[in-house]
Amino acid sequence: MLSKGFDVASVRERLAGRRVDWHATIDSTMTAAAKLAREGHAAGTLAVADEQTTGIGRHGHSWHSEPGAGLYLSLVIRPPAGTTEIPLVMLALGLAAQDAIAQTSGLAPDLRWPNDVLIGSKKCAGILAQMEGDAIIAGIGVNVHHTEFPEEIRHLATSLVLEGARVRREDLLVALALAIDEHMGILETDGSAAILDMFTRSSSYAAGRRVKVDQPGGIVEGITCGLDASGFLRVRQDNGIEAVILAGGVRPA
Ligand code: BTN
Repeated sequence: MLSKGFDVASVRERLAGRRVDWHATIDSTMTAAAKLAREGHAAGTLAVADEQTTGIGRHGHSWHSEPGAGLYLSLVIRPPAGTTEIPLVMLALGLAAQDAIAQTSGLAPDLRWPNDVLIGSKKCAGILAQMEGDAIIAGIGVNVHHTEFPEEIRHLATSLVLEGARVRREDLLVALALAIDEHMGILETDGSAAILDMFTRSSSYAAGRRVKVDQPGGIVEGITCGLDASGFLRVRQDNGIEAVILAGGVRPA
């Protein structure tokens, strides 16, 4: 059953002092948040939508954005001057989403590098990040109330309700915004090693998983063997050569 309506007032009350823009329908919250960043709005500013008509995914994919079923948000991040570190921000965002989903649903999500949130082998949340001037716009989509998916992603996607958890999108949004603050704080204060260590402990994909990754030169297949200092994924191929994955869809082999 879909949850109708969204109590944005309760979110604004619980995230006091933060601008939260709510859109009944929008092309993509990425466009709205990029505009907010250009206008100079503070870190943590949120654009949230009930429906996206052209939701954007990573690697040129679209993001299935059924009205009323998911949490679709973009958030303005303002990294300290001179530090962009998008790969580490991507990992920190994944950790934040994993925490917020675990807290609100009672489920135990996994992370697939760089930041897909999985329940079992299926994806319940996806994250992207893009630069907008000096700001980073983080876009997060969580499948909350979806009871079905289009044929082409049915074998890959799941939702919190399909996994047995009934979660209010408002509670998830508040938990997510606070978890992002916390994890960006860890990155800023404790540095990249802290995030690398947390990710390595929180993701079954960080080490010891046989994976395939689409790369420009072909498919890389091997066993994951940790992250490098920049947050990129190391994969030991069967010929003993280590590949460093900068981007690309990682899947179990
Ligand atoms: C991925 O491909 O895994 C990333 C998906 C990111 C989807 C979210 S939904 C909210 C925000 N607006 C978009 O258009 N995309 C991101």
